[in-house]
Amino acid sequence: MKAFIFDLDGVIVDTAKYHFKSWKIIAKKIGFKLSKTQNELLKGVSREESLNKVLNWGGISIDRLEKNKYLEEKNELYKGFINNLNHMDILPGVNKLINFARNNNIPIALGSASKNAHRILEKLGIKNKFKVIIDGNLTSKSKPHPEVFLRGAEILGINPKNIIVFEDSIAGIEAANKAKMISIAVCAKRKIKNATFNFNSLDDISLEFFEKLEFK
Ligand code: BG6
Ligand code: MG
Repeated sequence: MKAFIFDLDGVIVDTAKYHFKSWKIIAKKIGFKLSKTQNELLKGVSREESLNKVLNWGGISIDRLEKNKYLEEKNELYKGFINNLNHMDILPGVNKLINFARNNNIPIALGSASKNAHRILEKLGIKNKFKVIIDGNLTSKSKPHPEVFLRGAEILGINPKNIIVFEDSIAGIEAANKAKMISIAVCAKRKIKNATFNFNSLDDISLEFFEKLEFK
């Protein structure tokens, strides 16, 4: 048995840019300019962990109440940006892989840190394609901890070594590797170190690649 686990933001849909936009606004409010390089380290990381990183980089410390205020504000900004998402926003290659999985009896799961995952999959119209959805509401440890992927494997009932994870983030690749899964990085701008394989996008992965790939 084999399975696919997809990350959501930056893999299925280009929402990573909206997370960045929202965090930039929040960072500015707390007196700090968030760089692109720093943003790479926020990808795959939960909302609260992301805020902690931003505060840390800015050398700012605030109380719980204020933290909650910024977390809520960030999510309101983000929800505004994703409001009009629809099936046209599904990234190239996603549907091809979903169809390949269906034709080959490969179950697919979602492994995302986002608490907005259900909302986004519904907007894209592909929620029913996922046998299992593990999101930020079901996990307590943020990537690079492997919890999200291990829970997925457990519910799918499939050995982690027979699972392929598609990820766009450094934290996500580390999490998949820690879970002892096959990690495929999809990122146009750079290669992610330690990923089992690197591709520019899901669309660049040929179906022959999976046929040749040996699941040990
Ligand atoms: C991940 C994103 O998928 O979800 C992170 O890569 C984001 O940037 C995290 O912080 C949590 O998302 P949300 O939607 O719960 O704020
Ligand atoms: Mg991602």
